[in-house]
Amino acid sequence: MSKLIEPHGGALKELYLDEAAAATEKQRATDYPSWDLNARQLCDIELLLNGAFSPLEGFLAPSDYDRVVEEMRLSDGTLWPMPITLDVTEDFAAGVAEGQRIALRDAEGVLVAVMDVAAIYRPDREREARAVFGTTDVAHPGVDYLFNRGNTVYLGGRVYGISEPAHYDFTHLRRTPRELRERFAKAGWRRVVAFQTRNPMHRAHVELTFRAAKQAEANLLIHPVVGMTKPGDVDHYSRVRCYEHVLKKYPEATTDLALLPLAMRMGGPREAVWHAIIRKNHGCTHFIIGRDHAGPGKDSAGEEFYGPYDAQHLVEQYKDEVGIEVIPFQMMVYVKERAEYAPIDEVDEDETVLQISGTEFRRRMREGLEIPDWFGYPEVVEELRKTFPPKDKQGVTIFFTGLSGSGKSTIANAVMAKLMELGGRRVTLLDGDLVRKHLSSELGFSKEHRDLNIQRIGFVASEIAKNGGIAICAPIAPYTATRRRVREMVEEANGGFMEVHVATPLEVCEARDRKGLYAKARAGIITGFTGIDDPYEAPQDPELAIDTTDCNPDEAAQQVILKLEQLGYITLR
Ligand code: ADX
Repeated sequence: MSKLIEPHGGALKELYLDEAAAATEKQRATDYPSWDLNARQLCDIELLLNGAFSPLEGFLAPSDYDRVVEEMRLSDGTLWPMPITLDVTEDFAAGVAEGQRIALRDAEGVLVAVMDVAAIYRPDREREARAVFGTTDVAHPGVDYLFNRGNTVYLGGRVYGISEPAHYDFTHLRRTPRELRERFAKAGWRRVVAFQTRNPMHRAHVELTFRAAKQAEANLLIHPVVGMTKPGDVDHYSRVRCYEHVLKKYPEATTDLALLPLAMRMGGPREAVWHAIIRKNHGCTHFIIGRDHAGPGKDSAGEEFYGPYDAQHLVEQYKDEVGIEVIPFQMMVYVKERAEYAPIDEVDEDETVLQISGTEFRRRMREGLEIPDWFGYPEVVEELRKTFPPKDKQGVTIFFTGLSGSGKSTIANAVMAKLMELGGRRVTLLDGDLVRKHLSSELGFSKEHRDLNIQRIGFVASEIAKNGGIAICAPIAPYTATRRRVREMVEEANGGFMEVHVATPLEVCEARDRKGLYAKARAGIITGFTGIDDPYEAPQDPELAIDTTDCNPDEAAQQVILKLEQLGYITLR
């Protein structure tokens, strides 16, 4: 064991004020500018305040930020791989001055912390993406946040905790770094291997962790991320129920389970170093890094962003500085002839390797396909079946997009009627005009307002998907990025998404001119009209494209129904 390892972590920086100071700040805070933390920021602040991000004392100011981005170090030279920054809007930043104290609140308005704003700065986000994630491709979730979801101004400064972010789920499994250290000390656990995960655990993971603990002669901490993970992952509620089943597979009192409210960035190698520091802060002495740790998946060209063992190598390089031992693992695979798991480098050439990737597993669950026994525990699979009901019971969004007059509403209404006739599913129609009347009556047709309108539709559709219903949407939705966002929202709600491009050409739509709008647009009476003086970005890869030039609404609706059946969302009688 390396000398630098202290059994229960190094100095812990907890940033909460004592009760009296917190009470005073609560009163004063009504006069401070107040920022509502988004989901990711709320995760960050929780781990800042409870010391999981020690030695950080707040959100990074430029002197630390620049060096973290360029060299993975704070300005004093301490290793820190991930920029922890507070991104705010231009509007909010305009109302704050350096040296001022601000209030940081959760979505319900509860005061979580106050912050002394030491610096207000506009980061070079492209440089940050390149240096931290090695790419500017927005298929990378960390880059997507940076470019599309986050705000443009960063505030840096010391934070002071007032009240712990509230959690009402799995409270018996939530532990701060201090609590975990105390728990280990009490149990006499001097060597603890941490296992990071954002996926359900199956036999391979149990085998891997089991071997790691044995090899390190240590106890095991299963330490799954329940803050934010990769879009499309299994939700944490389902996962934690699975972990509770899996915990029973280990010899009693050797293994512990605790939840980590971390917002992952999917930053591969850099993220792995960050994970190791966080585990060290939680009192762990060893950290498992397998294949493709914190991997963001494939880039826009279909290539992996990082090499499968890049993360392992980077953490190995810094392990002494972090003060944690790395337990590296080659990919664990099932060897058919031996009927057991083994690291791939220990498999002979003439042996048969069986594997199911995370993506393939989710596909099988969504399709209601069988999961072999060698792969998963029956209890876990059964638990996940509740999360992924068979396709014809899953929520689904049918999203029509196309020019005005292309036939979207007509087909949508026809599809609705056909689904009602079939019965057995709950259907909601979110037609473009209907939505603009009931949900978005105050909005116009600027890019900003169009996006807002579509986001609202996406929100409602994802809520419907959560409850297993069918939402039929029929807005123009001219922008690819916004349509992609809706798809993500629905898929995050475990719903299916079927994009239907009503690809009737502009000339045909204009010739029909059912509402007389094209004539008005041509005459300049209305401006910003899609197809005339406003853009329409046609879908590149829709599930279905229909040109209504030579087909009637009934035929078009029939195509949609057949596609729904083909994708498994409905069963035709
Ligand atoms: S991660 O984003 O949190 O890294 P995941 O939950 O899939 O994703 O993996 C958690 C840890 O287990 C990572 O260190 C990963 O490399 C390792 N791991 C997962 N599956 C395997 C496997 N089959 N073989 C080796 N390591 C694995």
